[in-house]
Amino acid sequence: MKNIKFMDFCAGIGGGRIGLENVGMSCIGFSEIDKDAEITYKHFFGQNEQNYGDLMKINPDDLPDFDFMVGGFPCQTFSIIGTRCGLEDKNRGQVIYGLVKILKAKNVKYFILENVKGLMNHDKQYLSQKPH
Ligand SMILES: C[S@@+](CC[C@H](N)C(=O)[O-])C[C@H]1O[C@@H](n2cnc3c(N)ncnc32)[C@H](O)[C@@H]1O
Repeated sequence: MKNIKFMDFCAGIGGGRIGLENVGMSCIGFSEIDKDAEITYKHFFGQNEQNYGDLMKINPDDLPDFDFMVGGFPCQTFSIIGTRCGLEDKNRGQVIYGLVKILKAKNVKYFILENVKGLMNHDKQYLSQKPH
């Protein structure tokens, strides 16, 4: 695992990162738009950690190469206790497309995208496979 480089998207305060570092992977950057979350993240992981900012505005060419993506993207719009606008939500519902764009552009082989159960059946679309 030591040679596996990952980037932490929708990083929050770094819960996903902790898990991957615990199995020996190396984080080479993160993306987070919330300033308070960024302050906490840097407090935990170091002031020199690079935040690439809003992933919807990232040019993938500006990112270093990496093997693994972790991203706990916003769930409110998919949650059964939210509005369930899903992908129609012009802000939070679209973030998954930004992640997929980066996955494709950087030819990332492995990823974990974390969300809520409602993602699987929003808009009455039932995904045929459960995520792993
Ligand atoms: C469910 S939280 C992730 C929590 C994270 N897994 C943790 O351990 O703290 C989603 C995060 O995505 C961030 N976010 C939302 N849109 C974003 C975007 N376009 N680019 C980067 N981060 C974004 C939010 O600010 C929020 O911190």
